[in-house]
Amino acid sequence: MLKKDLSIEFMGVKFENPFLLSSSPVGNCYEMCSKALESGWGGIVFKTIGFFIANEVSPRFAELQKERTPFVGFKNMEQIAEHSLEENLAAIKKLKEDYPNKVLIASIMGQNEKEWEDLARLVTEVGADMIECNFSCPQMTSHAMGSDVGQNPELVKKYCQAVRRGSNLPFLAKMTPNIGNMVEPAYASMQGGATGIATINTVKSIVGVDLEKQIGLPIVNGKSSVSGYSGKAVKPIALRFIHELKTNEKTKDAPISGIGGIETWEDALEFILLGCETLQVTTAIMQYGYRIVEDLISGLSHYMEEKNIDKLEDLVGKAIDNIIPAEDLDRGYIVYPEINKDECIKCGRCYISCYDGGHQAISWDKENREVSVDKDKCVGCHLCSLVCPVKCISKGEIKFKNKNENREISL
Ligand SMILES: Cc1cc2nc3c(=O)[nH]c(=O)nc-3n(C[C@H](O)[C@H](O)[C@H](O)COP(=O)(O)O)c2cc1C
Repeated sequence: MLKKDLSIEFMGVKFENPFLLSSSPVGNCYEMCSKALESGWGGIVFKTIGFFIANEVSPRFAELQKERTPFVGFKNMEQIAEHSLEENLAAIKKLKEDYPNKVLIASIMGQNEKEWEDLARLVTEVGADMIECNFSCPQMTSHAMGSDVGQNPELVKKYCQAVRRGSNLPFLAKMTPNIGNMVEPAYASMQGGATGIATINTVKSIVGVDLEKQIGLPIVNGKSSVSGYSGKAVKPIALRFIHELKTNEKTKDAPISGIGGIETWEDALEFILLGCETLQVTTAIMQYGYRIVEDLISGLSHYMEEKNIDKLEDLVGKAIDNIIPAEDLDRGYIVYPEINKDECIKCGRCYISCYDGGHQAISWDKENREVSVDKDKCVGCHLCSLVCPVKCISKGEIKFKNKNENREISL
């Protein structure tokens, strides 16, 4: 396995690689975290701890499938740690003693200022390298905690100040995506003393309804409730929020730990290119196990080797400036689809989608099952290439809307 130097300094702490368990059941006790660290993860955000001890439901998960692909999205109904605070603190202490070169981040959640301050002090005393403040769990049974707090910038600032009173460690404020504008709570957290931002936590959801029983999923003794959604399906939402933070004057310099739907090294790299320096994962580990870190490390290493990049930090934020406001996009040209007839399997899906959902620009020769593009009708939307199951439709000829124009285009 090719292994480049993937080390990175994040909020003043050195990570051997940027891949971390995000706070959740994947890092719930000493044994699990130890196995994860032995598997190659650079660090751990331990399952959120607090004075509040969660009483969880059964069952507590449901999934969204599409065309029988499991785990497209994943819903959970869990709150914070079920073990006692003492047990969790002991686990954090032992992990740090046994793995001094790995980074241990303690995720905490208080119910008032005193609890936040005390928790910050306690995790500092047992040797955590960093703290993450959970302002973002969307299914707490108390509204004094979780995403209800994260939606309130004043409370976020106040609780960050309390954490700062309790500890000198660098700390992340973990944001909720259940909000229109993440800049406000993120900025409030920085004003309160947070060193960086972790985002996103889960998205409030109802993933489905049992059609026989007519109850939402999962069914907990006859009822269900709204709770957090994660996994691949939330990646676009996470990337969008991260870009928002990285392009707003108030928050653009905040270090970010990116979370939400990371499964592969390509997913991870997208977060890095949008400005994240570390990356956190839960759902993909729940589905495939800790071993996915091997692919994350080797995939990223190969990419860096291929692109001749020695330091991971050289990739951080490279794509930020290439996402611009809609009004600034070049609307002066059309790129037509080009169908590779040798690779086409004559399924007709491009024809159907173009007719029923596009501009009726693909014609269908019924006898030979052949498609062709009518450039007078085609607007270059590329729905056809997206639905093609063998990906034989690519970007072809370019036409400038202003006929006299002819300039350089980068596709
Ligand atoms: C079962 C489960 C439990 C979770 N528990 C916590 C938690 O205790 N604290 C926290 O900050 N986030 C918690 N999360 C949120 C994850 O840390 C993460 O932010 C979210 O799942 C998105 O990442 P993913 O798509 O890689 O799962 C939990 C997520 C899941 C699926």
